[in-house]
Amino acid sequence: MMRIPVILFSILLVLIGACKEVPILSKEATEKTLMYQEQFRPQYHFSPPEKWMNDPNGLLYNQGVYHLFYQFYPEDIVWGPMHWGHATSTDMLHWENKPIALYPDKHGLIFSGSAVLDENNTSGLGTAKNPPLVAIFTYHDMDKEKAGSIDFQTQGVAYSLDNGESFTMYEGNPVLLNSEFKDFRDPKVFWDKKTGQWVMALVAGDHLRLYRSDNLLEWTYMSRFGATQGAHGGVWECPDLFELQVEGIDESKWVLLISINPGAPNGGSGTQYFVGDYDGTTFISDQEEIKWLDWGTDNYAGVTNNNTPDNQRLFIGWMSNWNYARETPTEAWRSAMTLPRILSLSKINDTYELFNYPIPEVDSLLLEETTMRFAIPAGGHESIGLENGNQSEILFTTAARDLKVTFKNEQGQQLILEMDGTEKLCTLDRSQSGLTDFQETFAGSQQMPLNNLPGGEVEFRIFLDASSIEVFINKGQYTMTAQIFPTASYSDLEIGNTGTTPSQIQDFAVKEVAGIW
Ligand code: FRU
Repeated sequence: MMRIPVILFSILLVLIGACKEVPILSKEATEKTLMYQEQFRPQYHFSPPEKWMNDPNGLLYNQGVYHLFYQFYPEDIVWGPMHWGHATSTDMLHWENKPIALYPDKHGLIFSGSAVLDENNTSGLGTAKNPPLVAIFTYHDMDKEKAGSIDFQTQGVAYSLDNGESFTMYEGNPVLLNSEFKDFRDPKVFWDKKTGQWVMALVAGDHLRLYRSDNLLEWTYMSRFGATQGAHGGVWECPDLFELQVEGIDESKWVLLISINPGAPNGGSGTQYFVGDYDGTTFISDQEEIKWLDWGTDNYAGVTNNNTPDNQRLFIGWMSNWNYARETPTEAWRSAMTLPRILSLSKINDTYELFNYPIPEVDSLLLEETTMRFAIPAGGHESIGLENGNQSEILFTTAARDLKVTFKNEQGQQLILEMDGTEKLCTLDRSQSGLTDFQETFAGSQQMPLNNLPGGEVEFRIFLDASSIEVFINKGQYTMTAQIFPTASYSDLEIGNTGTTPSQIQDFAVKEVAGIW
């Protein structure tokens, strides 16, 4: 038997004792969970190691590390007292699970919010040499809510001096009170270079409110937007406000993301956007049309990273919908995030369109490739066998607009994506895609109007990952994200031509996507 020298053994004991025990997984977490091998477990999307997750929070890049915080309830697989879970990555694809970042305290539960690097230590919470990461979030006081008072949502601050490894709650919390609005939440804070101030975008029921600050701790109201604009089928949540250069022209615009629940075009939760201008105080938009970032049922509460290199707008959304988020058929964990996507703005037929498309790093996960090019006669179809269909990317370009893409498995389940060129409509039908009866609104088909899609060759890109499908048309001009629960992998892909002329499918490729865990 190998013997450890006594001195070394004692050193080991001291070291073990000194290690702060910060559990990431509970004791019951099975080995299967650790391997991310359960049925429906996404292989290349972020999902929490276990238990309940909703919105992405505090997306921030600092010192080569992307931080993803998220709404987390570590005790159950349904929503409960909210914490901020935490994971980090150097490429936004491979994630390392970190200990819980924020716990509820005497001011309430920790709802959604954002994080910034306070580079000049304006808050005084760090030092000039070691500037703090500052998280700004909503406190939700359950007791006050139950007692019927209106001021139960306030904003709080926490800071980290070790690049997000641990956080301290600011003693002066809460930093922004409220006596007017029942819903008063989800602060997105950013540094406005032009005016040299911190700006907080916050939602209050049916509108956005902007506040300013010099130090992240004292906030002054500036302006409001939106009570009479955009979709209002439900309460406004999770705002994000940022500037984007318009592709190909010398113009920049400001984009406002607003999640609403309910009131999305296909039911329940969805994210609308406004394109407009911001002058350092007020956001305005003359946009009349209601615009959606994603037409699928499962992309909610998404926001973008602060502090990215080149100020890129890197977006992550929660791949679920409040209509059925608590009932989806998983046991160890609930829900996943979308693929990280890059946002860009284009002007097409005189209107601004926000594109969202997987970040280029996703290409590094693509493995096996089958490429082909074929023509499908009117009314005909082409069948392609899929090796690992539920972990794949399908990509092709075509000028055809009447297409039916069907994924089938040996259990008779099928997922259908259909394009109708005359109606300018794309439909995703998941009614027979797998398990659907866990909640009554889940089955059925979802629609996406393609009114502004240019003619000619257009790229179609589809990602399947165990329990999700993400569809990107024309590099993300039109996007649909939806959860699915097939009980066997889709092994057959059928592309049908539903038009009256032959369709040419160019550069058709199926690739397996490597797992990230
Ligand atoms: C959005 C949301 C936020 C809130 C959080 C609570 O999904 O309702 O408005 O801060 O979830 O978990």
